[in-house]
Amino acid sequence: MTATATKMPKNKKKKKKNKSLRKGWRTASTSDIHELYELSVQEPEAEVDLTDQVWEEQRGRLATSIREDFCGTAIASMSWVKRRRANTAIAVDLSAEVMDWGKKKVAERLNASQAKQLTFVQDNVLTVETEPVDSVLAMNFSYFLFRTRKELKHYFTRVHHALKDDGLFLLDAYGGSDSFLEMEEDRDLDGFTYIWDQAYYNPISGDVTNHIHFKFPDGTRIDKAFSYHWRLWTLPEIQELLKEAGFRTVHVYWEGTDEDGEGDNEWTISTRGEACEGWIAYIVAGK
Ligand SMILES: C[S@@+](CC[C@H](N)C(=O)[O-])C[C@H]1O[C@@H](n2cnc3c(N)ncnc32)[C@H](O)[C@@H]1O
Repeated sequence: MTATATKMPKNKKKKKKNKSLRKGWRTASTSDIHELYELSVQEPEAEVDLTDQVWEEQRGRLATSIREDFCGTAIASMSWVKRRRANTAIAVDLSAEVMDWGKKKVAERLNASQAKQLTFVQDNVLTVETEPVDSVLAMNFSYFLFRTRKELKHYFTRVHHALKDDGLFLLDAYGGSDSFLEMEEDRDLDGFTYIWDQAYYNPISGDVTNHIHFKFPDGTRIDKAFSYHWRLWTLPEIQELLKEAGFRTVHVYWEGTDEDGEGDNEWTISTRGEACEGWIAYIVAGK
């Protein structure tokens, strides 16, 4: 895999690459950052596919109930309830603003019965109390905002508590040699350019600051549409903390490569990764 890490990496991002920059189609003043975020970094169907895959592999059945932590616009939860009529989702986010944006999209994205399968909860993932679920999802590295072992272990303990007895916790992580650099990478999408800006990295603390900027064909920009102050956790640290938090099994799903050496969106449990410039992995922790 050679893609640059972070919200850029993975072949899944490549699918959206190289679409024509239709001149003038979008501008900074006519664009909505939540819509641009969804178009740039989210692939909810792929997350639902992966959830189905790991449940089949590890539990021999499909999950029905999920909780999407750090849900943002809750697009993954919406894909989940659309997948099967029995599915339910609890979407949790601290921000009323982003959650209200997601709620406003319900009418156009879901039919009436799908809408009933989805519950929005504006709360802190560290303290929220929800009905036990089959799976908790924490995607796009959102839990990297917990910057000490104590905080991250506490979050993992809360997730463990939120799961049913045979529950599975799915989370992702990024890394690779480029992730330790201060660098920018951009990608042309449909009518705008997405810029991933690794603005700061401190090798002593592991702290990173990453920004997302958007640039438009007319030269206008939305700088720092989103900013993240994270700790760049490594896979061994994450696996150890999940075990310490009480998870009995922890597996890393690594992506295969196609004939060009790019990620092929095929995920398998692995114990040997590739020392490449950028990767994303999924971690699945079983209660
Ligand atoms: C990087 S976005 C993730 C959006 C989406 N899950 C994704 O996969 O792209 C991080 C989200 O986490 C939310 N957030 C930050 N701290 C939180 C907390 N302690 N509890 C719940 N949500 C939190 C923010 O409001 C923001 O919407």
